[in-house]
Amino acid sequence: MIIGVPKEIMHDEARVAASPEAVKQYVADGHTVLFERGAGEGAAYHDEDYQAAGAELIQGPEEIYRRAEIIIKVKEPLFNEQLGKHEIDMMHKGQYLITFIHPASPVNHDMVRKMAAQGVVGLTLDGVPRISRAQNLDALTSMSTCAGYKGILMAANDLSFFMPQMFTAVGKIEPAKVLVIGVGVAGLQALATARRLGCITYAADIRPAASEQATSLGAKPIDLGIPADKAVAPGGYALHLSPELLEHERQVLAEHVKDMDVIFCSALVPGKIAPVVITEEMVQSMKPGSVIVDIAIDQGGNCAITTPGERDVKHHVVIEGIKNIPGMLPQSATWMFSQNMYNLVKYLVKDGKMHLDMSDQITSSIVVTTEAGEIIHEGTLEAMGLKK
Ligand code: NAI
Repeated sequence: MIIGVPKEIMHDEARVAASPEAVKQYVADGHTVLFERGAGEGAAYHDEDYQAAGAELIQGPEEIYRRAEIIIKVKEPLFNEQLGKHEIDMMHKGQYLITFIHPASPVNHDMVRKMAAQGVVGLTLDGVPRISRAQNLDALTSMSTCAGYKGILMAANDLSFFMPQMFTAVGKIEPAKVLVIGVGVAGLQALATARRLGCITYAADIRPAASEQATSLGAKPIDLGIPADKAVAPGGYALHLSPELLEHERQVLAEHVKDMDVIFCSALVPGKIAPVVITEEMVQSMKPGSVIVDIAIDQGGNCAITTPGERDVKHHVVIEGIKNIPGMLPQSATWMFSQNMYNLVKYLVKDGKMHLDMSDQITSSIVVTTEAGEIIHEGTLEAMGLKK
């Protein structure tokens, strides 16, 4: 098939949907790859590497959108300021688009309707279910891994003191204390990274299984006192807590928050608004110079006073609300994303044709729009109030 890789146009986005290694794999599988000149520069992958991998280098996005059968991208389609048109306007009926569409999010509803009207078959990476056989095509998990690692490095940079314990000629330096709230993919990586940097680590999650995993990484679990039957759904996912239980959680956390140097927030129930686990009063109780990294900010944030998209200082505490953390680790994020994308394309393309088997759990979870102009993604229909 003809696979198109346009340059990402979101402001400051340094990632790209295919590494040279992935291009080589697509070409070996018999595909043609149209790659926009310069699209890999932000991730330190150069045009010569793509050419050597077998890509056809193309100037600008328009020819790519015109010729490709499948467009692969990192971010959802956006308005291209330079060309004065929306990326979807460059696409055509029956063309496949694979990217993070975040179709349930209200800000993207118009874009999803536009995609359907154009007959573009949109496949969203955030729909990939977290099941064992989907692991190697789950780009969201890869990006959370990047965010867990880089988020702790941001905290290390923001702190005005050392993270590890040190014995110096002038005395002992105590290790920093790091609390991770929400120990899923990002949280586990954050715990592992903080530990490697010599911190004392603490973990808080409502799922007992998460606390066990945190313990195996050397963290001290904080017992939030939430009954398991109120916290975990039969499939093992976390449940959205009732207001009373959430208030109880905040009271437990308040006792610990004031002693911490870094709080890494990544608590989320998929498809829901992030629970507010840190209040303004709790921030006020923290030591001057401590840091909160709130990576749940895309879903509203776990801290009540995080500024979306910004690094702020409030009550003498640094609060990181930066949104695109994986984009700050562009080469690793691109490499991981590219491998997930390659595995997904390989999964979906059979005998040189895209084959969407809607009885398959992975496929049916990611298809958002069809060539016939329908929106069929359940979460999106629900969010749009169109679910029958
Ligand atoms: P995940 O679903 O693997 O983990 C979320 C964890 O939060 C689960 O372990 C769950 O049990 C826990 N949780 C839910 N409610 C809780 C509560 N009330 N108290 C404590 N823990 C609770 O999710 P993942 O992949 O680790 O992502 C976490 C967050 O990071 C999400 O909001 C995601 O969108 C965000 N993220 C942000 C990025 C950025 O650049 N800012 C990049 C990647 C992920």
